[in-house]
Amino acid sequence: MIDTVLPTSRTNTQRAQAKGAPGKQAHLLRIPARDDGYPVWQLVSQCPPLDLNSVYSYLLLCEHFRNTCVVAEANGQIDGFVSAYLPPDRDDVLFIWQVAVHERGRGHGLGRQMLLSLLDRPHLAHIRFLETTVGPDNAASRHMFAAVAHNMGTGIDESPLFEPELFGPEAHDDERLLKIGPLRRMPG
Ligand SMILES: CC(C)(COP(=O)(O)OP(=O)(O)OC[C@H]1O[C@@H](n2cnc3c(N)ncnc32)[C@H](O)[C@@H]1OP(=O)(O)O)[C@@H](O)C(=O)NCCC(=O)NCCS
Repeated sequence: MIDTVLPTSRTNTQRAQAKGAPGKQAHLLRIPARDDGYPVWQLVSQCPPLDLNSVYSYLLLCEHFRNTCVVAEANGQIDGFVSAYLPPDRDDVLFIWQVAVHERGRGHGLGRQMLLSLLDRPHLAHIRFLETTVGPDNAASRHMFAAVAHNMGTGIDESPLFEPELFGPEAHDDERLLKIGPLRRMPG
């Protein structure tokens, strides 16, 4: 079972739950707080192939971007995290940066439900497209975003975005853009 803090009435998250795959553990999906920054850094450090950014960047996300981020908590532990932001000058797009689910929480729909819970937030009701990037071999990520598209009654468009050479001398996979939408928003 997964509880969400916002909102409480008939939500995309609840529809996803109704379609199956509820988690075994009770996870509270909530807006991050400042003191989640370091636990989120610890979580991401255990979730390859995600790039691990500085603790400071996760503190900033939990402080300044908390309204577009989610943490999933159970038994006092952070098992899931989504970072996202509203790209400047693009009114109806939410860009998903990182999605991390601890190994102990995987395979129960937690990643998908964190993403859907963002779309249930009243201040994001205007979002019509999710964008993200994925590496070529990240099957879990691709399946998760496909499941979100399915839940939202829409498709995915894929195109090149960040070629490997843009990352400098550090070896890095191609990061292709996934554009999910237009989203079919569920009536309240
Ligand atoms: C990707 C990740 C967040 C998925 O979290 P999760 O909670 O296990 O995903 P979900 O349970 O919500 O899965 C959603 C869908 O993807 C599928 N899926 C999940 N992991 C999969 C895998 N390894 N291989 C194939 N399909 C997978 C599920 O079957 C589900 O499909 P369904 O709804 O049709 O049954 C998690 O595996 C993770 O943290 N990986 C490491 C970090 C990463 O790669 N993040 C994504 C890049 S931003």
